[in-house]
Amino acid sequence: MQFTPEEKAIGQGNFNSAVGATRRDFLAGTLATTAAAGATYFGYKELGGNRVKVGFIGTGDEGSVLLNEHPADYMEIVAIADLRPDNRKRAFDGDNNDVRQGLTRKLGADVVKNIKAYKSHKELLADPNVEAVVIAVPLSQHAPVAIEAMKAGKHVLCEKLMAHDIAECKEMIKVARANKVLLAVGHQRHYSVLYDNANYVVKKGLLGDIKFIRAQWHRNNSFPNRDSWRKKVTKTDAAALAGKTEEFGYKDVNELVNWRLFNKTGGGLMAELGSHQLDACSIFLGKVHPLAVQGYGGRNFYGVKGVGSLDKQQDDREIDDHVYVTFEFPGPNYKEDQNDIVIVTYSSINTNRLEPYGETVFGSRGTLYMNTEKEALLFKEGSPSSGPGGTEQRLYVINGKSGPVLDASESLAPSANAAVASAAMEKISRGYTEEMEHFSYCIRNNIFDPPDKGGLKCNGVVAMADAIMALTANLAMKYKKRIVFKDEWFDPENPLTPETDPDVVG
Ligand SMILES: NC(=O)c1ccc[n+]([C@@H]2O[C@H](COP(=O)([O-])OP(=O)(O)OC[C@H]3O[C@@H](n4cnc5c(N)ncnc54)[C@H](O)[C@@H]3O)[C@@H](O)[C@H]2O)c1
Repeated sequence: MQFTPEEKAIGQGNFNSAVGATRRDFLAGTLATTAAAGATYFGYKELGGNRVKVGFIGTGDEGSVLLNEHPADYMEIVAIADLRPDNRKRAFDGDNNDVRQGLTRKLGADVVKNIKAYKSHKELLADPNVEAVVIAVPLSQHAPVAIEAMKAGKHVLCEKLMAHDIAECKEMIKVARANKVLLAVGHQRHYSVLYDNANYVVKKGLLGDIKFIRAQWHRNNSFPNRDSWRKKVTKTDAAALAGKTEEFGYKDVNELVNWRLFNKTGGGLMAELGSHQLDACSIFLGKVHPLAVQGYGGRNFYGVKGVGSLDKQQDDREIDDHVYVTFEFPGPNYKEDQNDIVIVTYSSINTNRLEPYGETVFGSRGTLYMNTEKEALLFKEGSPSSGPGGTEQRLYVINGKSGPVLDASESLAPSANAAVASAAMEKISRGYTEEMEHFSYCIRNNIFDPPDKGGLKCNGVVAMADAIMALTANLAMKYKKRIVFKDEWFDPENPLTPETDPDVVG
């Protein structure tokens, strides 16, 4: 969807007004906010100097973002580990930009000189000073590294997707329980204030009946040097690691560096990108599990001779570069009436990025447009009583007979709280910092409760459901069939998984 600057401003104003008018609790929290917006908002407390001693395993693209975003008043970084010398250096020196500024710039040389730099996760896990680890290694190594860490008694925050297959997810949950350590997974939207507010607007029923959500992550890699998933192996990394990668699960240095391109090491577009958005969609729908999925995936760009990135040759990647999937989710009345289905479509493509990434929730009374984790726009559907609605209509929240509704009446003043909500929204982060703060808070306060009782918002069970959605979509595309989800797959105690279920693979 494309909006003019005026339409965007209206959509943002509408959203802020809806949040401001429906969330008195949020505003109270926000007004009390000083520096620690996440703590106030999500209700956890600062650690008062008793920081958690953390090691970061994998300091590549994402690990460096997490280092940049780590909350220094909750976490004391005592060590980092990476197989690649260039990425160990990058952890300290950064990329010379604000997204990955590097530890030296963030913490200062005096602090950084005490941080150990290990050559593998194994060395780091042997360090008794490390209480907890943040893991940002390639997908195929999430489970092996996390399990090793938990068996060594370390709490784990592992990047998404939780694991390469669902049997591994179940094993991770078991090991966490057996070793009495926390297991968190980095689907950061669980800690995004923007998403939390959007979810509140949805839950309040302002959008009316929701029958369709459209999510997408579109990129255009058809221009030269735009393929962010294919990287060059540097001379330093090649020299240091030749013949030494197999013990860590990679055939060679190329597979370590370009892990996203291969089935053995990555999970394709659904694991890397789609999992985030299916996570968001399922939150909007009340954290329900989907009913069924079908889809199409192909190497429609890189797989076509002479078209992909390697001039006139076929590209050697195994993963699809275009995926289109359709999920059926249960609506709120599904138990009583099985026609109450919500459709979620997801596409991820490599040849156009007019609309980059986000989710659009289409309701019978309004549309919520979430864009690149940074903005939320709200528009009203036209109705006979309240004018045309649409993208040019400023709207207000009024209290209807059965709760708040969107209205476009010019006679109503905008919510007095809208301006405060708007100011608060400007402080939002993508959720990385809050996710690490809450992880540390739960460690220090020994909180092993489920998410609705104040525990980790994306614990193993929650994250496994995200993995099941993404990986079952892959199976639906692979076997070219509509797959019906089973409760047993979501039960960590039940050994059945989509990958082993005869109804899927038979
Ligand atoms: N939450 C998000 O929004 C988000 C965004 C991007 C990536 N990710 C996830 O983060 C993870 C890492 O992605 P990336 O883009 O940083 O990949 P990357 O290839 O840039 O970095 C991975 C790093 O892990 C290191 N590594 C691999 N095995 C190791 C081991 N055994 N011990 C120590 N270091 C090891 C590699 O040398 C490399 O430097 C992936 O699972 C990815 O899905 C999450």
